[in-house]
Amino acid sequence: MKRTNGLLSNSSSLLRLYLIALIFGAIFISLNYLLLPEVDIYAIVRAFAGEEYARIQLPEFRMHHILLTVHILASLGFTLCAAYTLIPMFWSLRSPGHKLIGYVFGIFAVTMVMSGIIISYRLPFSGLRGVVPNVIFGLALIWFYLVAVIHARERRWREHQVNIIRAVFVGLGIVLARLYLYVLVNIFSMQSREAVYWIFWLGSGTNLLIAQMVIIWLQNNSRLKRNLAPTLVPYLSKKSFKRK
Ligand code: HEM
Repeated sequence: MKRTNGLLSNSSSLLRLYLIALIFGAIFISLNYLLLPEVDIYAIVRAFAGEEYARIQLPEFRMHHILLTVHILASLGFTLCAAYTLIPMFWSLRSPGHKLIGYVFGIFAVTMVMSGIIISYRLPFSGLRGVVPNVIFGLALIWFYLVAVIHARERRWREHQVNIIRAVFVGLGIVLARLYLYVLVNIFSMQSREAVYWIFWLGSGTNLLIAQMVIIWLQNNSRLKRNLAPTLVPYLSKKSFKRK
């Protein structure tokens, strides 16, 4: 029998490619910041976000080095746990690692979001209004994660997966945000301060919309439903899916 599992594993290769691209993008962004010499970081940041951003924000980041490092390491952990959803050998819900990685993912997610919100408040490059999208999408991410945990405890696996997909897409929206930043600053000649405000809405917002469309498409696709993994079949039969 074909061993496939979960909504994402049955999805189109285009979606998986997109997710892989986001994951590599997040790892790239984080490692760049952690490992490259300052002069190279400056050149990359200036190319993406403009001269003003690199000149003002990079020294601020250096002054809040610990906060930034905690945020980036948590984001890296979050990203690696998200990558776990792509590795077939981990897909079985009975795998002992699944539960553990699920909780570790939660710890990283909360640390990443809280440090992200604090950074947006303490280093407000685009003013305090910049805190708003960070709070909204950050809390949405944590909300999706908590709902997914509750669903897992109730053995409602499909709802569990749907909410994990939402949480992962919102978190990785930050990679898309960097691309928006490049386009807004370099192609539309937007001021860096204005662009940095908008990218937090655009990055996670676009990704949440994509996640939502993917979820609806997967749920309406009967061929994909038939292909669900052996481990999931008992839980996804109509009988076991009835609400208690
Ligand atoms: C996997 C996801 C994430 C990664 C890889 C990541 C990585 C980074 C990195 C490397 C920086 C510092 C340098 C730069 O701006 O490039 C940064 C800054 C920042 N991050 Fe994240 N982050 C992620 C998720 C989040 C989330 C979910 C939030 C909000 C709740 C957030 C909020 C921020 C803020 C506000 C800044 C400062 C940006 C600025 O002032 O220009 N990040 N992040």
